[in-house]
Amino acid sequence: EQREMRMWLEAYELTAKFYEAVLNGTEQGKPAKQYLVERGFTDKMIRTFRIGFAPAFWDKLSQVLESKGYNLSSLEQGGLVRHGNNGYLDLFRERIIFPIHNHQGRIIAFAGRVLHSDQQPKYLNTPETKLFHKSKVLYNLHQARPYIRKKNQIVLFEGYADVIKAWEAGVDNGVAAMGTSLTSEHASMMKRYAAEVILCYDGDEAGQKAAYKNLQVLEQSGLHVKVAMLPPRMDPDEYIMKHGNRTFMTEIIGSPLTSTQFKLQWFKRKYNLNQPDSKLAYIRSSLHIISQLQAPSERELYLKELSRDCDIEIATLKQEMHEMRQENQKKQRIGDNIQKPWNNVMNDR
Ligand code: GTP
Ligand code: MN
Ligand code: MN
Ligand code: MN
Ligand code: MN
Repeated sequence: EQREMRMWLEAYELTAKFYEAVLNGTEQGKPAKQYLVERGFTDKMIRTFRIGFAPAFWDKLSQVLESKGYNLSSLEQGGLVRHGNNGYLDLFRERIIFPIHNHQGRIIAFAGRVLHSDQQPKYLNTPETKLFHKSKVLYNLHQARPYIRKKNQIVLFEGYADVIKAWEAGVDNGVAAMGTSLTSEHASMMKRYAAEVILCYDGDEAGQKAAYKNLQVLEQSGLHVKVAMLPPRMDPDEYIMKHGNRTFMTEIIGSPLTSTQFKLQWFKRKYNLNQPDSKLAYIRSSLHIISQLQAPSERELYLKELSRDCDIEIATLKQEMHEMRQENQKKQRIGDNIQKPWNNVMNDR
C-alpha cells in the first residue's frame, strides 16, 4: 500500500515532467504554447505552476510510463491511464495540463483544459484516488501557505488561471477549489492557516451565486469573509488581461466589500423591489443579516442604508429588527448548549 502510493507519486512527477517537456520543447507543443502566450501566460508562470501539454496521441504517456517500468494496472487506479481494447490509453489528450499539488508540494492529480473552446468538457480532472480527494484539495496551497500564514489571510478564486495570473499580479496567498463547490472540509482546512478569506469569484451569475453560497460555508467555520467584486461577465484572469496587475490589486483585491455589504447587495439583486411582497421579503432578509451584527453602530450604518433604499422610516426598521434580535437571542440560548463543544473542536488549532 505505502509502496504503491510512493510509486504513484513518482509516476505523477514523471508525468508532469513529460507534459512540461511536450509543451516547451516539441512540435506538438507549439499550438498549446501559442495559446498560452496569447492568453498572457509568461514563461515564468508556466515554470512556476509547471503547466504542460498532453499531446494528441492515444497512448504516448502510457508508453513512457511502461518503458520506465511502471505497472500500468496500478497507475489505472492512480488515474493516469485507462484500459482500452488494445492495452492502456492516456487519460488526457490534447489538453493544457495544470498539475495539482498537495499541501506538501507533491503532485497528486492533474487538470486538463481543452485547447479549442468548442470541445467538451472544458476541464477534465484526474478521477478521485486514494491520494486525490477533490473536497480536500486547494490548488496552489503548497506555494501560498507561507504567505497565507504571514498575512493571516487567504484569497479564494474560482479557477486555475485566476490563481496564476493573480500570483503574478502580487496575490501570493491565492488558492482555488476544484471548480466552484467549496466544502466544509476546505473551510476548516483554511481556518487552520488564516482568520480571513477574500472571495474573488467570477463576475458572472454563476460566480456570484457560488460566492454567496461559499461565503456561508466559510463563515460557518468561523472565518471572516470579504468579497472582492469583479465587473459582470469578467473573471480575475480576464480583468488582469484588460486592466493590468496594478489596477487589479488596488481596485479589486484592495477594495473588497464586507460580508454584510455583499449579502445585502445580493438580496437587492435577487428580489424585485417594485413588487410589495418581494420588497418586504427583501427587507426581512436584510434585517435578519443586520440583526446578527454585534456592534450597534454597525447595525445603524446598514439600517440607514436600508431605510434610504426602501423608503421606510429607520424607527420602523429598528422596531422590527429589535423583535428579530430577541428571537435570535432566544434561539441562541437554546443552541448554545448544543454548539459549545463543537465550537471548541473547531477553534482547536
Ligand atoms: P478558463 O476558461 O481557462 O479561463 O477557465 P476558468 O477558470 O475561467 O473556468 P470557469 O470560470 O468556467 O470555471 C471555474 C473553474 O471551474 C475552473 O477553473 C475549473 O476548476 C472548474 N471547471 C470549469 N469547467 C469545468 C468542467 O467542464 N469540468 C470540471 N471538472 N471542472 C470545470
Ligand atoms: Mn464554465
Ligand atoms: Mn466561472
Ligand atoms: Mn472563470
Ligand atoms: Mn477564465
